[in-house]
Amino acid sequence: MIVIKRSFILLSGLLLAITTCPLLAEEAKSGYEYIKPATRAMQDDDFENPGMLSVERGLELFNEKQDSTGKACSDCHGADAQKMNPQSIARYPVYDENRGGIVTLQKSISYCRNNIGSRALPTNHPDLVALETFVRNRAHGEAVNVQVDGPMATLIDKGEKIYQTRFGLIDMSCSHCHSLYPGQMIRGQKISQGQGNGFPAYRLDIGEITNLHQRIQQCLTLMRAEPFDADSEEIKLLGLYVMSRSNGLSIETPAVRY
Ligand code: HEC
Ligand code: HEC
Repeated sequence: MIVIKRSFILLSGLLLAITTCPLLAEEAKSGYEYIKPATRAMQDDDFENPGMLSVERGLELFNEKQDSTGKACSDCHGADAQKMNPQSIARYPVYDENRGGIVTLQKSISYCRNNIGSRALPTNHPDLVALETFVRNRAHGEAVNVQVDGPMATLIDKGEKIYQTRFGLIDMSCSHCHSLYPGQMIRGQKISQGQGNGFPAYRLDIGEITNLHQRIQQCLTLMRAEPFDADSEEIKLLGLYVMSRSNGLSIETPAVRY
């Protein structure tokens, strides 16, 4: 109850703010620009960045024989995934008609695991998130480069519609917070543009590595809405739309965020 009330207070505060501050066409800015200097320093130092533990865990899994298949990811992709192309990793999520449309990096990893006969793991299983963090980290510093034309154009439009739909008890859309209010404070944190270039990221608040879809689910919970399921089309469309807004931003995986 208290939380809902607070949200209403927040909402009225924000509505007040919007009447006083005119909107400017936004240039994409990483969440890094909005976090506290101490959090930035933590992200920048590989020894301090708690997300690096997931990268290391992912590397371990990458070099292990998967179940009893006798094959490791590294057998085909190189010991440090050096045979993978970082620019190709920077393009995720990608479009693949044969695989049902939008394919996230985690799904791509799952396909490979299943191909070599490993037991299929559910979406967002900790091992998959660790592998995802490791593989995405290989593209650290590359610019996000999601395809926006062809079949992706329609899907991005669909994602944008969901992004602008009001959800939950606070009756706000993603766009309210992340397009209208970046820079405003909410519970001691600055609202950012809600970009995807840092994910998977380590969240200090919950003490866990979190991929983009999980972060979106957490925002839906914050909105007092029923989060879309991990395998739903909606979460894929939202994830795609968010990543398309992040085009050009440097990949920071693993970012550190509140
Ligand atoms: C038997 C060889 C083999 C094994 C083992 C294997 N892969 Fe692959 N993987 C491939 C091939 C072939 C492709 C498709 C060609 C490409 O994109 O490099 C691919 C593609 C990928 C891609 C997409 C790359 C891109 O640029 O889009 C990812 C990510 C990936 N594999 C991760 C993994 C992970 C993680 C594991 C271990 C769980 C693994 N693979 C195990 C052969 C393998
Ligand atoms: C009530 C305000 C609010 C709404 C509505 C909201 N979020 Fe957020 N979101 C936050 C806050 C606060 C954070 C953490 C601080 C930050 O990075 O903005 C956050 C973080 C994020 C991040 C991580 C950004 C980063 O760099 O770490 C993403 C991505 C995101 N939100 C996506 C969404 C999506 C998609 C929706 C709609 C389903 C949504 N948010 C709705 C407040 C909101």
